[in-house]
Amino acid sequence: MRAIQIVELGGPESLQLADIDEPAGDGVVIDVRACGVSFPEVLQSRGQYQLKPDLPFVPGSEVAGVVRADAHGFAAGERVAALSWLGGFAETVVAQPQMTFRLPDALNFAQGAGLILNYHTAHFSLVDRGRLRAGETVLVHGAAGGVGTASIQVAKGLGARVLAVVSSDAKAEVARTAGADEVLRSDGAWKDEAKALGGVDLVLDPVGGDRFTDSLRTLNPDGRLIVVGFTGGAIPEVKVNRLLLNNISVVGAGWGAYISQRPETLAETARALDALIESGHVRPLIGARFPLAEASRALQLIDGRGATGKVVLEP
Ligand SMILES: NC(=O)c1ccc[n+]([C@@H]2O[C@H](COP(=O)([O-])OP(=O)(O)OC[C@H]3O[C@@H](n4cnc5c(N)ncnc54)[C@H](OP(=O)(O)O)[C@@H]3O)[C@@H](O)[C@H]2O)c1
Repeated sequence: MRAIQIVELGGPESLQLADIDEPAGDGVVIDVRACGVSFPEVLQSRGQYQLKPDLPFVPGSEVAGVVRADAHGFAAGERVAALSWLGGFAETVVAQPQMTFRLPDALNFAQGAGLILNYHTAHFSLVDRGRLRAGETVLVHGAAGGVGTASIQVAKGLGARVLAVVSSDAKAEVARTAGADEVLRSDGAWKDEAKALGGVDLVLDPVGGDRFTDSLRTLNPDGRLIVVGFTGGAIPEVKVNRLLLNNISVVGAGWGAYISQRPETLAETARALDALIESGHVRPLIGARFPLAEASRALQLIDGRGATGKVVLEP
């Protein structure tokens, strides 16, 4: 089969198309129609991600496609989305049954490849870690990105008001399309604007860096800041007196670590997301599609801060 391999840790440019054996093993064999591309693959191409497989390896944490043969309760021909962790940038993947989910008819394959990582993370961050309640106000950083657009849609589906923070006009449009009620610019007075809009109950932060302290300043009493990632590069530090003085919390959300300890929660979250797909709130936004052979370009787009919504490869 055709697959993309990381053969050396030289960044997005050093991905290579290869002809390799199909993967073996007990699981659900999926003929891949779309692979999701995410920030972690950019980090993996430089050896900077916590998961460091031996070289060469096939990256690709999630796919959507068609089940090849009856297995583990899935029927041949069924449309599915699956979390593969690795191996997704390929024509065929073998996925663990508990990491494989039927793809609702309302979503196409590209949307299916953007469903698991971002939407499960969004739901876990907002609900399990953030204790989001209907009627609360959520501020989402990196709001036009994969986790960002997913978080907007999940928060709206759960009855929240959403303020989105983005860095450009084009990204503002994407955040509005995702359903944001208000869009603020990261290069503007977003902190004061958020406070003028009544403050926020929950900040969802995949960006980190120097906006962290200002995020804390936007929180109302009992507010929560959910730490999701650090695309901005720097890992912020917090002066804990701010937490005490304003009765606010900083909460970490590490979805991957959580589901590896409690895989049974995946099915529960998938059911909650199916309900939001059914109600029309969850529709992954596809910002760019590339053929499998152009995986380097897909990673460069993310690395250059040019991606919106989900980037997918189509074998
Ligand atoms: N904790 C978890 O369980 C979990 C799960 C999945 C992903 N993540 C992490 O969440 C983060 C976001 O992932 P994603 O897939 O949403 O990424 P993405 O689609 O590339 O979006 C990230 C956003 O970060 C913003 N950003 C700010 N400074 C940036 C910079 N220097 N370079 C690139 N982007 C920058 C960009 O928005 P603006 O240009 O508008 O600022 C961009 O839209 C990643 O760090 C990822 O590893 C964490």
